[in-house]
Order: sequence, then structure tokens, then C-alpha cells
Amino acid sequence: MGSRGSICVLALVVFALSTSAQLSPNFYDETCPSALATIKAVVDAELMREQRMGASLLRLHFHDCFVQTCDGSILLDPAPNIDSEKTAIPNAFSVRGFDTIDRIKLAVDNACGKPVVSCADIVAVAARDSVVALGGPSWEVQLGRRDSLNGNSTLANINLPSPFFNLQQLIANFQNQGLDVRDLVALSGGHTIGLAHCNLFKNRIYNENSTTINPAFAHLRQGRCPPSGGDRELSPLDFTPRQFDTNYYSNLVNKEGLFDSDQALYEGGVTDGWVNLYSQNPQLFFEDFATSMVKMGNITPLTGDEGQIRVNCRKVND
Ligand code: HEM
Ligand SMILES: *[C@@H]1O[C@H](CO)[C@@H](O)[C@H](O)[C@H]1NC(C)=O
Ligand SMILES: *[C@@H]1O[C@H](CO)[C@@H](O)[C@H](O)[C@H]1NC(C)=O
Repeated sequence: MGSRGSICVLALVVFALSTSAQLSPNFYDETCPSALATIKAVVDAELMREQRMGASLLRLHFHDCFVQTCDGSILLDPAPNIDSEKTAIPNAFSVRGFDTIDRIKLAVDNACGKPVVSCADIVAVAARDSVVALGGPSWEVQLGRRDSLNGNSTLANINLPSPFFNLQQLIANFQNQGLDVRDLVALSGGHTIGLAHCNLFKNRIYNENSTTINPAFAHLRQGRCPPSGGDRELSPLDFTPRQFDTNYYSNLVNKEGLFDSDQALYEGGVTDGWVNLYSQNPQLFFEDFATSMVKMGNITPLTGDEGQIRVNCRKVND
């Protein structure tokens, strides 16, 4: 091997050590070669029954990763020694997909003959497969995350962004996770699929003096969201909630963002440029979304002998 070859190898080693050390797309190739195919089969079957589940699984991964790390902490049920994140304000009556994750876990453990695939990895792969099933981009999911031994509901309340955040708060919230402005705008594109509850955008659609909402859009959304009550009514996050497309961004350009936090990305601030670009360039949005999903999925994972591989995603092993 010439000196150029050795430098190359050296550079590779340094690179491998400096990025999220032990995650790898091939992590289960030996211990459970059919893991990925099994997860995809169950996700596809679940989405045949209910397309919205794709949106719910994507959000589940996001809410898992922003609290501690992507460690399956959000899956833990309340128990005497468990500080369950399910009861935290951003999650309660809102985050869904737990039964689906249980069904995937059962199928994967059956396929492997033993519990070797972590719940955190199952959530990460299910999120990717959901996006693909709804017409979005694909990406290689890094694997080998381990499951946490506890949750943290306080941290969930602190770290998960509010739909009432302004741009400055959103940027700070993502920065706290090592994600930059471009990641913020790309990942917010997750709102191209799924539904939201009336009480979270009521302020926005009934604020008649606002110059940041399209009046026709406000009127339309008022139809399923009365001025008082109706808190559990659902509305789509963009005009095509079952399709992973760029409509979320075109809607923002037209002042048709559902949440304050959506429209904040296109109100004259530093993110306007990215919203404009993504609204016009599906390929760029797909590439950036995939890149940022990998980045979000790699936030300081538990690896090696940290944490555990849960047998039941809802509780720590006995
Ligand atoms: C930027 C800050 C964000 C805020 C403030 C935010 C807030 C919210 C809220 C309040 C809901 C509705 C919950 C409900 O009514 O039950 C929601 C839904 C959703 N969010 Fe976000 N979110 C953000 C970022 C993201 C990211 C980064 C993703 C994924 C990459 C994402 C994916 C989703 C999806 C798919 C839904 C619909 C879920 C369903 O239909 O079950 N969100 N978000
Ligand atoms: C939960 O998060 C809070 C806020 O960061 C922190 O102060 C606390 O120590 C955490 N609890 C546990 C059990 O890790
Ligand atoms: C909207 O503006 C009108 C006239 O300036 C004012 O009377 C009213 O209180 C404002 N409403 C809101 C929700 O700010």
C-alpha cells in the first residue's frame, strides 16, 4: 500500500472514531439479518389499515430523540421507578403508535429468535419506513442504539418544542440538540403529514388582526375548530396530510401554516430562504430531510454496554 493508501485508511479510522462511535447500518446483519425487512412489512401493514400511523411513527421518533437521546425512553409506561414521558404535556393525549411498536417488536423478536433489536432502533427504522410509504425520501438508518433504563418527564416538558414558539425559541431549541437552522426547517417538513388538535392552533385562526395568517385559510380551519370547545377536533398540518411532499412549505409561503411555530419559519426571519427553496425544489427538500433525520437519529446514542435491549418496549427488563 502506498503512502496515499495509508493516509486514506488513517483518515477513515479517524472519521469512524469521531462520528457516533458504534452506530452502523449493518449492526444487525449477523444477529438478525431479517430485522429491517420485518419492520418494513409490519409498518406497511399498519399503514394499510391507517395511513396516519405513518405520521404518528415519525413524530414518535422525533419525541424519543429530543429527550435524553433516541433511546426508546418515550415508550416506557408509568411505573413505580419509571418517570414516564407519556404524561408530559407535549406527549399526553397526543403521541401515538405505541401498540404498533409493540406489534413490530413482537414480529422482529420472532424473526430473530431472541430480543436483539433495540426498541430505539425499531422506532428509528419505523419512522424511515413510514416516510417512504407516504412518498417521501429514503435514507440508511444507523443502528445499534440501546434502550434507556428510565425516562424523564421533566426533560420532555423542557426539550420538546411548543407550537406557540417563535423563531428565536425554535432555533434555540434545535441548537440545544446540536441541530442547526437548516435542520430546523428541513425537519419541520415532517408536518407535511399528519393531524393536529384544535386547541393548539385556535389562537391563530381566531386572531382577526393577525397579518401572518391567510384569512380564507383561517376561516376554513374555523370550520372544524369552534371558538370554544372542540379541543379534540383534528385538522391536517398541511393540505395533503397523507402525502410526504413540499406542500407544507408552499402553505407557509401562502400564510397557511397551522401553528404559530410553523408560520414562524416564514415571517421575514433567517429561515425564509430555506422555506422558499424547499417549496420549489422537492429534491432538495428530500435530500435535506434525509440528512437531518440521520443527524437527529445520531444524537449521543447509548451504545456498547450502556442501557439494555428491552424485551418489552414498555418496561425495563426485570
Ligand atoms: C419545530 C418544532 C415542532 C413543533 C413545535 C411541533 C409541534 C407539533 C404539535 C403540537 C403537533 C400536534 C400534536 C397534537 O395535536 O396531538 C405535531 C404533530 C406532528 N409533528 Fe411536530 N412539531 C415540531 C417538529 C416536528 C418534527 C421535527 C417532526 C418530524 C421530523 C414532526 C412531526 C410531526 C408529525 C408527523 C405530526 C403529526 C402526528 C400525527 O398525526 O399523529 N414535528 N407537532
Ligand atoms: C431529568 O431532567 C432534568 C432536567 O434536565 C434533570 O435535572 C434531572 O436530573 C433528570 N432526571 C433524571 C432522573 O435523570
Ligand atoms: C383587533 O383590532 C380591533 C380594532 O383595532 C380591536 O378593537 C380588537 O380588540 C383587536 N382584536 C384582537 C384579537 O386583537
